[in-house]
Amino acid sequence: MCGIIGYIGEKQAYPILIDGLSKLEYRGYDSAGVALLDEDQLEIMKSVGRLSKLEEKIGEQVPFGTMGIGHTRWATHGRPCDMNAHPHSDCTGEYVVIHNGIIENYQALREWLKTEGHLFRSETDTEVLAHLVEQYFRGDLKAAVRQVLEKVSGSYAMVVMSERDPGRLICARKDSPLVIGLGEGENFIASDIPALLKYTRRTIILEDGELAEVSRDNVTVERCGQLVTKEVFNVEWDVVAAEKEGFEHFMLKEIHEQPKAIRDTLRSRITADGLVNLAELNLAEDEIWQLRKVVMVACGTAYHAGLVGKYVFEKLLRLPVEVDVASEFRYRNPLLGEDTLVVVISQSGETADTLAAMRLAKEKGSPVVAITNVVGSTVSREAGRVIYTWAGPEIAVASTKAYITQLIVLYLLALQIGQSAGLIPEAEIMAMTAALKKLPMDVAGIIEKEDVIKEFASRIKDWEDTFFIGRGLDYAVALEGSLKLKEISYIHAEAYPAGELKHGTLALITENIPVIALATQPDLYEKMWSNIKEVKARDAYVLAIVNEGDNETGKEVDDVFEIPATNPIFTPVLSVIPLQLLSYYASVMRGCDVDKPRNLAKSVTVE
Ligand code: M6R
Repeated sequence: MCGIIGYIGEKQAYPILIDGLSKLEYRGYDSAGVALLDEDQLEIMKSVGRLSKLEEKIGEQVPFGTMGIGHTRWATHGRPCDMNAHPHSDCTGEYVVIHNGIIENYQALREWLKTEGHLFRSETDTEVLAHLVEQYFRGDLKAAVRQVLEKVSGSYAMVVMSERDPGRLICARKDSPLVIGLGEGENFIASDIPALLKYTRRTIILEDGELAEVSRDNVTVERCGQLVTKEVFNVEWDVVAAEKEGFEHFMLKEIHEQPKAIRDTLRSRITADGLVNLAELNLAEDEIWQLRKVVMVACGTAYHAGLVGKYVFEKLLRLPVEVDVASEFRYRNPLLGEDTLVVVISQSGETADTLAAMRLAKEKGSPVVAITNVVGSTVSREAGRVIYTWAGPEIAVASTKAYITQLIVLYLLALQIGQSAGLIPEAEIMAMTAALKKLPMDVAGIIEKEDVIKEFASRIKDWEDTFFIGRGLDYAVALEGSLKLKEISYIHAEAYPAGELKHGTLALITENIPVIALATQPDLYEKMWSNIKEVKARDAYVLAIVNEGDNETGKEVDDVFEIPATNPIFTPVLSVIPLQLLSYYASVMRGCDVDKPRNLAKSVTVE
């Protein structure tokens, strides 16, 4: 949801801003812009479209200046166009602002500012910030920004720069992420760490309600006008982890990284004797016995991981589990309390709805466990109990390795609860942890067969509608497979519990229409065969994902892809891999932008 970058130092800022924006483009790519300050002269350049369009437009006329700000936009208020691109400036052009978030009271502020004589040029909510700074500026940029923050409501990560008070960037955050990178004689500001890594690993993570002044040699942070001492956080992972490393797309690289991501997520969480050691969970046995219900809350792919979690928890722990989309959960006054464990799942740890859901659960007194991939994210800082998915940075908008590792953490979490409360016999836990440890090898084996899946992709690529069916855990994976296909190839894909088709959707099954059938749950084989027959009887093209050694399902279908045999509870980790690759290749074959699908952004930090 918009990427923001700021630089102040001795070097020319433009290449640093462009490089930073290229690392943040996954957050939004409707338009991009930069503003540079050189010898008290502000220059703003912006363009609708990708960052490359901005670079093309600027060409050789590279702006000078050793301080500057840059923005890559995901449109919320106002269509993508040059006029609505950031940075925004005031009437005089002396104050510039970049912003990620939504100023909810911008209409009222805009009307008021107009009565004060301000002239607006864009349709955005952000522009009011620049005019407010102009309105309040009395020689001190920080003081003006303080006053602006008192006026606005909503969410923001923002950076403000002015030729009237050069030598410092002022930034602030509320409900949108912002990180400050500490250099030698230079400092940086960004929405996310990958934009800083080339320059520094030393970072300060700004919290909600904090305002910072960033100059060449100094950074000060305040809250409610009082200086606060911030911890310097050293980033462990390196630049290479955020590069493509020879793969054509980040998504393909991230699919290939999944065996390692699983290994890293399991590492040190299984003891030498095969028991689970999720030390960070820190739930005492009596707290577990108090639990009457589990609620999993998340959005998108993370929500689909939660659906797998429901089957797993209910099967292993016999605890009722509800799974909710965070944007629904937060507004339906959910029934929560001390006896309800709320599991919040978010790759980025910054998704606005998931954050709100987590805060609500805490307010209502529920114990909260967060599963996130980003160390230092808002979710990780606020949840209290955090279990990290050690997937490494996920850059492609389509989530792959984050999903897989969310599943792994959910398995570990269920096993840990079962183990601590004596709900699962140790021998069973040992058998399951042994199966978990084998998954990286199995996943690698599936990825080696990507050419076979590429071939399947060529069969579905020209269709505008597809269906994914499955029962039980397979249905949860069908949902994830269909989301992956639609978000990156723009092929309409619907996922159904296989038994539901005959209640309406079967009417859409016509000759050769692709149906991807997941049949990995042995106790549901016969039911699935009937459902597969139903679509075959209407001449659909059926690709089935089956277990190695299942010689029956394949007889009914057009194409089969076998996944290695494992405990049926773990098949989602394997069956989703061919679906990720299918979507990837369908997207490539249709000429889509795999890593940056239209209308989307990686991190959804607005409602
Ligand atoms: O960062 P989060 O896990 O909270 O993100 C949630 C969704 O926005 C995300 O999973 C989205 O659905 C993915 N683009 C799907 O591939």
